[in-house]
Amino acid sequence: VLEPDLPAFLSSVEGVVGATHVLTDPEVRAGHETDWTRRFVGRTPAVLRPGSVGEVQALVLLARRHQVSLVPQGGNTGLVGGATPLGGEVVLDLRRLDDLGPVDGPAGQVTVGAGVTLTALQDHAASAGLSFAVDLGARDTATVGGLVATNAGGLHVVRFGSMRAQVLGVEAVLGTGEVVRSNLTGLVKDNTGYDLPGLLCGSEGTLGVITSARVRLVPGVGPLLGALVGFASVTAAVEALPVLRSAPGLRALELMRAVDLRLVAGHLGIEPPLTPLPPAVVLLELEGPNDLVGALGAVLEALGPAVVASAVADGDRLAGLWRWREALPEVAAALGIVHKADVSLPVGALAAFEAAVETTIRAHSPSSTTLVYGHLGDGNLHVNVVGPGAADDGPVDAVLELVLELGGSVSAEHGVGRAKVAWAARQRGEVATTMLRAIKQALDPDGILNPGVVVG
Ligand code: FAD
Ligand code: MLT
Ligand code: ZN
Repeated sequence: VLEPDLPAFLSSVEGVVGATHVLTDPEVRAGHETDWTRRFVGRTPAVLRPGSVGEVQALVLLARRHQVSLVPQGGNTGLVGGATPLGGEVVLDLRRLDDLGPVDGPAGQVTVGAGVTLTALQDHAASAGLSFAVDLGARDTATVGGLVATNAGGLHVVRFGSMRAQVLGVEAVLGTGEVVRSNLTGLVKDNTGYDLPGLLCGSEGTLGVITSARVRLVPGVGPLLGALVGFASVTAAVEALPVLRSAPGLRALELMRAVDLRLVAGHLGIEPPLTPLPPAVVLLELEGPNDLVGALGAVLEALGPAVVASAVADGDRLAGLWRWREALPEVAAALGIVHKADVSLPVGALAAFEAAVETTIRAHSPSSTTLVYGHLGDGNLHVNVVGPGAADDGPVDAVLELVLELGGSVSAEHGVGRAKVAWAARQRGEVATTMLRAIKQALDPDGILNPGVVVG
């Protein structure tokens, strides 16, 4: 059995990436050692910034030879501690892998480097008259590698699905040090065995370091129309789902609560978006080319008295509606260290969950503040608890217990990371967990990639 030899590893890495890409300054390292929620704080001896797949491969081979563990990191916007070096690992910052390949118009696809930000990918697609289907609040910082590795969801899953539905091909350096290139030509139909790009989606840096991805693009965004639709309760909003989901051109279906919107209003120093503010507010976004005003009118008419208030907007005013939704995570973070439970529920259990969740949290942490919002169209709620200390898992554990009782998932879109390893194992059961471990063992036999993440 080889012993880890960090000094030998560190003395070799300059020869691979060059001295300027070996970062050891404590202030620089600090930005890579703490996550966005400030709940996970680790330590790393160095941050390495490879600039090509060849350099990534050389680093992984060196890490294997010297038995040194690596934490792949993109924009560090993940919310489950998966990119934090909690065990003193070396951080691999992949943001220099920022190649934007030419858009393949006839195929409606593009190959991009893992370090490309979501905004850069969206702009690149738009310059060819197309668009990238996934969008989320951390778009300016989150990278393609991170989005693939977490199988990110976001605001348009109700229309286009999550990352796994966009990724056709992947290039990655496995924990063995081998480079796998799977379907980088972007074949839409390729039935030659296990789906490797699909496997790397959601692998959270535990099987391979993703260096580039071939993704599908969708038609350029048409005219948009949005609305805030107010309901007397979350139960009423959930009951309206069949009608809301049938809206032609539906692109987003988000849930916010009055109690949380008041916090946003206070934070931004602006008046609430509806007066009086209904207990539950759904943000609905429709995309053309059909008659959007007529379509929205028909939805509101079909909902009848269930709708207690509404505000319709397009153009800049639509961006104003989105500001309410996108400010929610920022407001939670501004209140303190956020404990996040990103969960999904069967539609039939959504309202019962929302009704019970605050009481469940208060039983563990009476003075905490809870914010609940999420992607209603996907049955995905984000429960944010602020108040408990960083190491106090009690309130979120109680929330996840409730989720399992109601038949939901303990991770809807953020992944498992280090935060939910035991919960995910409990949810998927022993046989499935053994299968995941076998895959990990095959692709990363020495366990050097993101130890402790996903399967523990
Ligand atoms: P990081 O945080 O750097 O890493 C995340 C995980 O991926 C880690 O396990 C890391 O090891 C691994 N990883 C990163 N790059 C690579 C690579 N090249 N190869 C292998 N593994 C890698 N998520 C959603 O799903 N939906 C949302 O709506 C959403 N909204 C958000 C809003 C805000 C304000 C914030 C802060 C976060 C949000 N997120 C959301 C979470 C986050 O943005 C996503 O998980 C995103 O995919 C992370 O990308 P990243 O580049 O920052 O990855
Ligand atoms: C969101 O939908 O806003 C994100 O997933 C981030 C969060 O959960 O706060
Ligand atoms: Zn989300």
